[in-house]
Amino acid sequence: MTKKLATNIVDVLRHDIYPRIETRNGGVLATASEGKTLLITGASKGVGRSIAIIHAHSHPRCIIITARSTAPLDAVASELIAIGSQIRIIKASLDVTDPVAVSTFFKNLREVERIGKIDVLFNNAGYLEPILPFAQQDLATWTKTITTNITGVANVTHEYLRHNFTAVGGYPDGTTEGKNKEALKDATVIITSSMGALHSMPGFSAYQPSSG
Ligand SMILES: NC(=O)c1ccc[n+]([C@@H]2O[C@H](COP(=O)([O-])OP(=O)(O)OC[C@H]3O[C@@H](n4cnc5c(N)ncnc54)[C@H](OP(=O)(O)O)[C@@H]3O)[C@@H](O)[C@H]2O)c1
Repeated sequence: MTKKLATNIVDVLRHDIYPRIETRNGGVLATASEGKTLLITGASKGVGRSIAIIHAHSHPRCIIITARSTAPLDAVASELIAIGSQIRIIKASLDVTDPVAVSTFFKNLREVERIGKIDVLFNNAGYLEPILPFAQQDLATWTKTITTNITGVANVTHEYLRHNFTAVGGYPDGTTEGKNKEALKDATVIITSSMGALHSMPGFSAYQPSSG
């Protein structure tokens, strides 16, 4: 008998884009991002690149893509421009585990790029350690997984919220009365999670606790 690994969190498992979430060719979500500014971490390849591409079809005003390496980001930026030449594309090298770099990145968005409220943050940057029994795992690698998947998300989300509070003229910590609703209205934070978070399997001692 095949062992059931986890409870499905949705009724139907999908392996491709389906009509209700289609942005291309006049699909149901063809204008879902109209006028919006989107920020995607880990956008240089894999899931993050796909998030950027599918959303480029939904008419955003601006897509901000980040990762540590710059050449792959350049390639993704070219793909996005080919989809929508009217979309403003901003790319930045950013290590999400470095809180100072994250803070500087958002300051640069405000003061140099003149970016106001950011509508959607996709916390997608992530790391999966080599799959090994814990005793054989290099603890520096284990820590890298935890730091990227948990601290990285916290670093970016913290500065994202402070950016949005600042963008509407409030204090960065959100304590300006009357500004909270404006800063948070329709602001969305999405974290790319994993089925791994629902499993308990040998070899994933850092990924599984950090990918939920
Ligand atoms: N692929 C899957 O089957 C799968 C399944 C479930 C969940 N996920 C989740 O989806 C997300 C993306 O996974 P993926 O498979 O697309 O991974 P991937 O192909 O390895 O891409 C990871 C992305 O994150 C960036 N990144 C890694 N560490 C970073 C750091 N410290 N700071 C900033 N950016 C960093 C990478 O660029 P640089 O290396 O240039 O920084 C790259 O753009 C992860 O959160 C992962 O847990 C993936």
